[in-house]
Amino acid sequence: MEKTIFNLTSDNKVGRVIGVDTSNIIVNVDNSEIMTKLSIGHIMAVKGNFEHELLICLIEKVTRSQLDMLVMDEIEEEDMETSTNDLIRATLIGTFKSVDGTKRNLFKRGVNLFPNVDSECYLVNGENLQRFMNILDNEVKKSQKLIVGNFANDTNSQAILDGDKLFQRHASVLGSTGSGKSWCVATILEKASELRYPNIIVFDMHGEYASLTKGESKIAKGFKIAGAGDLDSEDTNLIYLPFWMLNREEILSTILDRSDSNAPNQASRFTAHLKTLKMTSVEDQNDESVKRSFTVDSPIPYSILDLIALLKEDDIGMKQGAKGMVKGDWNGKLTRFISRLETKVEDKRYAFLYNPREECNNYNWLNTFISKLLSMNEDSKGIKIIDFSEVPSDILPVVTGTLARILYDVQFWMKNDKRTPFTLLCDEAHLYLPVKDNADSVQKQALYNFERIAKEGRKYGVSLFVVSQRPSDVSRTILSQCNNFVVLRLTNDRDQNVVKNLVPDSLKGVTDCLPILDVGEALILGDAILLPNRIKLKEPKLKPESNTVDFWSKWNEIEPEQAELVKAIRNMRAQSRIDSK
Ligand SMILES: Nc1ncnc2c1ncn2[C@@H]1O[C@H](COP(=O)(O)OP(=O)(O)O)[C@@H](O)[C@H]1O
Ligand SMILES: [Mg+2]
Repeated sequence: MEKTIFNLTSDNKVGRVIGVDTSNIIVNVDNSEIMTKLSIGHIMAVKGNFEHELLICLIEKVTRSQLDMLVMDEIEEEDMETSTNDLIRATLIGTFKSVDGTKRNLFKRGVNLFPNVDSECYLVNGENLQRFMNILDNEVKKSQKLIVGNFANDTNSQAILDGDKLFQRHASVLGSTGSGKSWCVATILEKASELRYPNIIVFDMHGEYASLTKGESKIAKGFKIAGAGDLDSEDTNLIYLPFWMLNREEILSTILDRSDSNAPNQASRFTAHLKTLKMTSVEDQNDESVKRSFTVDSPIPYSILDLIALLKEDDIGMKQGAKGMVKGDWNGKLTRFISRLETKVEDKRYAFLYNPREECNNYNWLNTFISKLLSMNEDSKGIKIIDFSEVPSDILPVVTGTLARILYDVQFWMKNDKRTPFTLLCDEAHLYLPVKDNADSVQKQALYNFERIAKEGRKYGVSLFVVSQRPSDVSRTILSQCNNFVVLRLTNDRDQNVVKNLVPDSLKGVTDCLPILDVGEALILGDAILLPNRIKLKEPKLKPESNTVDFWSKWNEIEPEQAELVKAIRNMRAQSRIDSK
């Protein structure tokens, strides 16, 4: 073994393999001195079948005298009794080769040939560990390196992700509330902001990332979906999502009641008028090519009031019958549909959608809107944070879904060689990307859009970064398309099981530590990192505004102010934080 970087001696020898299955090995420890140093997450090297090959594994379980707990199906109990009583179970995670063709010292995930019984095992610690970590470090090209923290077992070693791999095929940050997801996202955004043209659009549900968009050292540009109180504001950072951007199905999901017996008539008249109105707008533009091939779903402005007027004509329409005028074909059938539409148009909370500012109805407004979100901003900030905190929860899925679809569609229709990749970071994804069986019509529509991106986005350079505290409530289709998972503490076993089912069998054992991870500690599972071990994540420089309230201390510090309560009541009535403007 001279050629290898590992110096394997009797001091760090642990013992011999006594059991092997497809992902685990069981090792009989014969070095009683080293036994007391072994701990979960430590790395071991097992001599492989070839001289230049070592199998690398992570210790999962260390037991003394608890033979029955380790009995594997294949091993007879009598065999166990004859062995000594210090045993280790470890997960095989990869293969180290000191020579591979012309290359030296390579580590790759996966194991081609399993170790044989009696193979020798060594603890990788001290200098050996340092050398091994250096190799991991060298495996990721400098330009791709994304340093997220340090390994919990070896705080000197940096945990380096391959940034390309992390963003390429969708990723997910999962963890119970308070486990450190938002901080982790902020750290990743901070690292991305050091690149020249990062392009990440963050869907911020609680406005907690606003701190990243303020002050001298800000790393992102902040936008906000206009709330009820923002309608007169000239602020260019307010985002409107005019109704005409929604496609037919998206609008219908918010206003059509499918249980209404007239629903088919309502949908068909709506579609017919939509087409006519869009045609009129396109004709005004004199754009022959768009005119020839646009569809009812194309984002072309029209007036919602004209649409309501046309529907009303149908609803009171009369026609010539044999004996004079009779009720028209749609007479009285659209009344409820119109009233639902009118209620939405009048509701100030929906104004960003149904009653946006005048300029949003200009044909060319979409150009400005898309450049704001997809190109670099004036201060060269490619990371954009969109505050959704004032969007009513019943239409949150349509809003996120439509925005995602429009951005994706623009990317889709862009020239191949001009495309630059972008990522949609979906915070609190369980709110708008639920498991399909539980989804209502509005959520189904959003799911459809996001699932399409999850399945096809990679080809067009669009990826999702899904963040959630309830993985068991997030669309499985979307999670199963993710290639990388940053998993923080997960206490609920339904959520833990979801994660276990998402990772390859060989890594299931590693996930046993999920409930005991400390705050800010994560397991990173996927091809972006070579060693799926516990990582202490870095603290971001700009911290997200925490949602964690210190009840006990606050009860000792601050008295509730009556005047503030009165202000809050005004805000509630206005459906807007009018006092902070
Ligand atoms: N990497 C970290 N290092 C140290 N403390 C952290 C780290 N991540 C989170 N915390 C602590 O945990 C709290 C909650 O983190 P947060 O990211 O808001 O959790 P989540 O978004 O999962 O609810 C933070 O306010 C901070 O005090
Ligand atoms: Mg959070």
